[in-house]
Amino acid sequence: MRRVAGLSSRQRLLFGGAVLGGVAIVVILLVIVIAQTSAADEQPIAFNHKRHAENGIQCQFCHAGVAKGPVAGIPSVEKCMGCHEYVATDSPQIQRLHGYWERQEPIPWKRVNEQPSFVYFNHASHIAAAVSCGACHGAVEEMTVAEPVVNMNMGFCLDCHAQQENKDALWDCAVCHR
Ligand code: HEC
Ligand code: HEC
Ligand code: HEC
Ligand code: HEC
Ligand code: HEC
Repeated sequence: MRRVAGLSSRQRLLFGGAVLGGVAIVVILLVIVIAQTSAADEQPIAFNHKRHAENGIQCQFCHAGVAKGPVAGIPSVEKCMGCHEYVATDSPQIQRLHGYWERQEPIPWKRVNEQPSFVYFNHASHIAAAVSCGACHGAVEEMTVAEPVVNMNMGFCLDCHAQQENKDALWDCAVCHR
């Protein structure tokens, strides 16, 4: 304390500033960590990919847009009800699903993967080239909660494009930034 008290007012200001700066950095890091985990953790219904995969339901049965265009698509409540009108009806989660159905409300799923708007991505061309879902999304069939386990930054996209025969065309900035 004596040493701190012995500082000039300018030194004390600098010292205080450094402490405040440190606290601010910790707070910002915490906010980032919380923001990244909450999206996956708090879905309106505890949808479980592993459970559905174990029952032999294919990815494309629910994400039917994946081979047709940019957007994979999330299944409608009606699609869920095709099975859950009969399956696991005494589960509280399924009763919640029935609530959305009766109110004719869409389920407000939180997005897990999202690219910035200046990036162009299209599922269909990748599916046509036989790139597996797992190459970009990890082992979703093992997940109880869908999470973004692969960091799909620019380097990730370019690494795989570099291994393709038409590498030069696929490295053109305008392929992904149109
Ligand atoms: C019974 C329907 C169903 C099946 C089958 C299914 N999904 Fe999903 N999927 C969903 C629903 C509902 C969501 C939204 C809730 C969530 O994120 O868990 C979702 C979310 C996702 C997401 C995250 C979407 C986002 O917001 O970025 C990915 C990736 C995904 N699924 C991939 C797959 C893959 C790969 C398979 C096959 C192994 C698969 N899904 C099978 C229904 C299904
Ligand atoms: C093709 C049939 C099918 C479709 C479509 C389907 N499910 Fe399922 N779902 C199942 C089966 C089978 C189970 C496993 C039931 C069991 O283990 O008793 C299951 C289990 C569940 C469970 C766990 C129930 C519990 O608490 O034990 C939830 C939650 C669930 N599904 C939600 C959904 C949602 C939400 C959708 C739509 C996005 C959906 N399901 C679409 C067949 C389906
Ligand atoms: C080459 C990488 C890649 C492959 C392969 C891939 N995805 Fe995706 N997926 C992405 C990216 C990138 C996004 C985010 C797109 C955005 O924000 O515009 C995404 C988003 C999604 C979403 C949420 C948004 C939407 O489009 O509905 C779902 C669901 C999804 N993928 C499912 C699948 C399934 C199922 C497969 C396999 C049949 C698959 N993906 C294969 C990269 C991929
Ligand atoms: C695991 C390999 C792989 C990864 C990862 C990958 N791609 Fe691709 N990409 C391909 C292949 C293969 C093609 C098809 C090449 C062809 O048909 O000539 C392609 C083609 C494309 C095309 C041109 C076709 C079209 O639809 O316009 C775009 C755009 C594209 N990728 C964007 C992306 C973006 C953005 C990412 C990262 C989020 C990404 N890719 C990650 C393998 C990959
Ligand atoms: C295969 C797809 C792909 C190609 C080709 C590509 N980019 Fe990107 N780029 C991305 C993705 C995905 C992002 C999203 C930001 C991230 O997470 O890295 C991005 C982000 C960026 C950003 C923003 C960086 C940031 O930190 O926010 C710039 C600038 C950029 N790209 C420039 C370029 C230039 C210049 C080229 C050509 C030399 C290029 N990109 C080629 C996929 C691509």
